[in-house]
Amino acid sequence: MAAARLAREAERDHEDDMTPVAANRGALAAAVDADRLWARHMAMARHGARADGGVDRQALSSEDAAARCELTAWGRAIGLEASTDAIGNLFLRLVGADPSLPPVMTGSHLDSQPTGGKFDGVYGVLAGLEALEAMVATGFRPRRSIDLVVWTNEEGSRFAPGMMGSEAFAGLRRLGEILAVTDAEGITVAAALESCLAASPAMPRRPLGGPVAAYLEAHIEQGPVLEAEGRIIGVVSGIQGKRTFRVQVQGEEAHAGTTPRRKRRDALVAAVAMIGALEQATADGEDVIKFTIGRLDVTPNAPSVVPSRVTFSIDLRHPDSATLQRLGDRIADICAAHAGPCTVAVRELTTAMSLEFPRPIRRMLSDISHGLGYEPLDLVSAAGHDSRQMHHICPSGMIFVPCRKGISHHIDEWAEAAHLAAGARVLVEALARLSTADDTKPRRRGTRRER
Ligand code: HGY
Ligand code: MN
Ligand code: MN
Repeated sequence: MAAARLAREAERDHEDDMTPVAANRGALAAAVDADRLWARHMAMARHGARADGGVDRQALSSEDAAARCELTAWGRAIGLEASTDAIGNLFLRLVGADPSLPPVMTGSHLDSQPTGGKFDGVYGVLAGLEALEAMVATGFRPRRSIDLVVWTNEEGSRFAPGMMGSEAFAGLRRLGEILAVTDAEGITVAAALESCLAASPAMPRRPLGGPVAAYLEAHIEQGPVLEAEGRIIGVVSGIQGKRTFRVQVQGEEAHAGTTPRRKRRDALVAAVAMIGALEQATADGEDVIKFTIGRLDVTPNAPSVVPSRVTFSIDLRHPDSATLQRLGDRIADICAAHAGPCTVAVRELTTAMSLEFPRPIRRMLSDISHGLGYEPLDLVSAAGHDSRQMHHICPSGMIFVPCRKGISHHIDEWAEAAHLAAGARVLVEALARLSTADDTKPRRRGTRRER
């Protein structure tokens, strides 16, 4: 496939050329404005601001539309070209000297969890904007265009599963299937997308997907490692695997006062038995298995009615794919064994095995970090990201910065302005390198490009 070949060339192009773009080394990083980057985070946090200081910006909501509007205005003010696609991904392009070449992309998401913070996702979007602004300010012209992207519904909170925008872009989930998903109110993604786009600035529609030369995503770590190690930059080696499920337990409504236990088909009692057994099956001494039931809906959810139906979510993660496979494959049997007089249906929503980002990208990020005076730390991402999907279609990588006590998906999520700026400095240098990749003169492995 053209993208894969191009991705290999882009990757090979950098295989051994490990120094950042000399002409702009430092100048681009120096043009990153930490105050502007911080101020934009605080401005974005107003869209979906909670009274307790957190953020609730659900995918394709009016708050999400308002955030996209503000970002588009910032991008257009520096000459970026805005466009969107059939799943509502938002693109802001810095046009390159040769726009016919597949672009380099960077970005993340603007949707949040219901009790979210000011940095998850937003940082990758605003660091990308800051990088493009630094390029414009220094007159740097990339050979390849650079697309800043906002992926639709990364979090999967309003519409499950998440990662819809990047999965549709990478061809990993059919658009029709995604558009038909409904939220708790029965609103489809298609209807929510229509209202969100109607509330967004007019912009051209581009085809879904397409060849990409390389993808980078900056993100807060959402874990405690960088802070504990006293490091500012993390070079992400990979992402742990994740499988998500929806479990539906079917019983029968009955009167709480008159129905004897032996005649009950109580869906909640059965669900509690299943959950207890699943907890036991996924408990490990080293605490590596991550098993979470974050959502549980009871029908009819009335105090004097025996529950007829319970639906609950399962989020299962593990860095080792074989273990994740083995544990995930046991879930349906465990649920069936504890269904009692009820019936149970288990549906797998996401199957994403562990991945490792390409070494050339990681070496480049590490080298640029050293060049800018940061001692990078290699670490696996325990959280999921849209870069997982992009890894399937082009050389991809991630830059982490610390967040306070590793707290995320929480109103107290916090990061330091200096750390956000540091990540943006590494990002702009890396994007400069990737977007000037000379793939027209493929070089033999091991040869260094003449300066
Ligand atoms: O759930 C995740 O790992 C991501 O933060 N959405
Ligand atoms: Mn995120
Ligand atoms: Mn998140």
